[in-house]
Amino acid sequence: MSDPHPTSAFNAANTDPAVTDRLIAVLDAQAANPGVRRLRAWAHAQLAVRPGERALDIGAGTGSETQVLAAAVAPGAGATDRATGSAIGLEPNPGLRAVAEQRATDAGSAARFLDGDALDLPLPNGELDVVWCERVLQHLPDPAKAVAEMARVLRPGGRVALLDTDWATFVLHPAAPEIRPALAAVAEGTAATPDAGRRLAGLLAEAGLAVDQLGADVLLHDSRTVTRPIVHGIGAAAVGRGLITEEQRDRLYADLDAAAEHGTFHLSVAMFAAVAHRPR
Ligand SMILES: C[S@@+](CC[C@H](N)C(=O)[O-])C[C@H]1O[C@@H](n2cnc3c(N)ncnc32)[C@H](O)[C@@H]1O
Repeated sequence: MSDPHPTSAFNAANTDPAVTDRLIAVLDAQAANPGVRRLRAWAHAQLAVRPGERALDIGAGTGSETQVLAAAVAPGAGATDRATGSAIGLEPNPGLRAVAEQRATDAGSAARFLDGDALDLPLPNGELDVVWCERVLQHLPDPAKAVAEMARVLRPGGRVALLDTDWATFVLHPAAPEIRPALAAVAEGTAATPDAGRRLAGLLAEAGLAVDQLGADVLLHDSRTVTRPIVHGIGAAAVGRGLITEEQRDRLYADLDAAAEHGTFHLSVAMFAAVAHRPR
């Protein structure tokens, strides 16, 4: 797979082990974020996955949501009517896939993981009851093709949950007004499709799926949950792209450090979710 957006570390082509370790840390921090937890809980409740169903988590990352799906498709060992559902996480990054497999094993989860590409799902037509795809479309140059693939592998009546960020909503505060457009450009440059969040309903409708529910939450950080390398990465990228000067960058760091000290630091980005089904 070529990498049309080398700035997107989550692009499937980016499999450097050092990068993968950093991605795992980012995914774990996001999984602990209250906004992410709320939006995930909302989407799982809307999907209402049942024992015996066949579920696929596309771009599973560390497999946390594949494990949630696995718990829902098969009742616990104590149940008398144990159904044999399946929950598979599709993950093209071998390092992330290995971590997902290990974590599922350690947790005693029945989640399984496969290599594969969202743009060419390795499954027959109408095979699945449920698809989950979280914060993956933003990393794909052709998200419409991925959603068409989801529609193809769902059975009539099957359900899908898409969750994604919209990078135009990125806010880092405090930042001098004259450098805010540069910071916004850096945020949008981290994804191949930075406006994926606002496009979820349209992408589903375009693929012939019926949208049932729309949801939203915000990934909100204060200075305790954002590490200095993340903030400095934004500043360095803005300088590297010639969008701000080194003096403006240093002023930004000083403003953010002062805000961290006074408890006024703010970083946020909106996330959207859409739940849909394939009409019968
Ligand atoms: C931001 S991470 C999200 C991981 C997980 N869904 C979550 O929300 O924690 C994006 C994931 O998409 C995967 N990915 C990137 N390109 C992909 C593709 N073409 N097909 C399937 N997965 C892909 C990455 O390897 C990564 O695991």
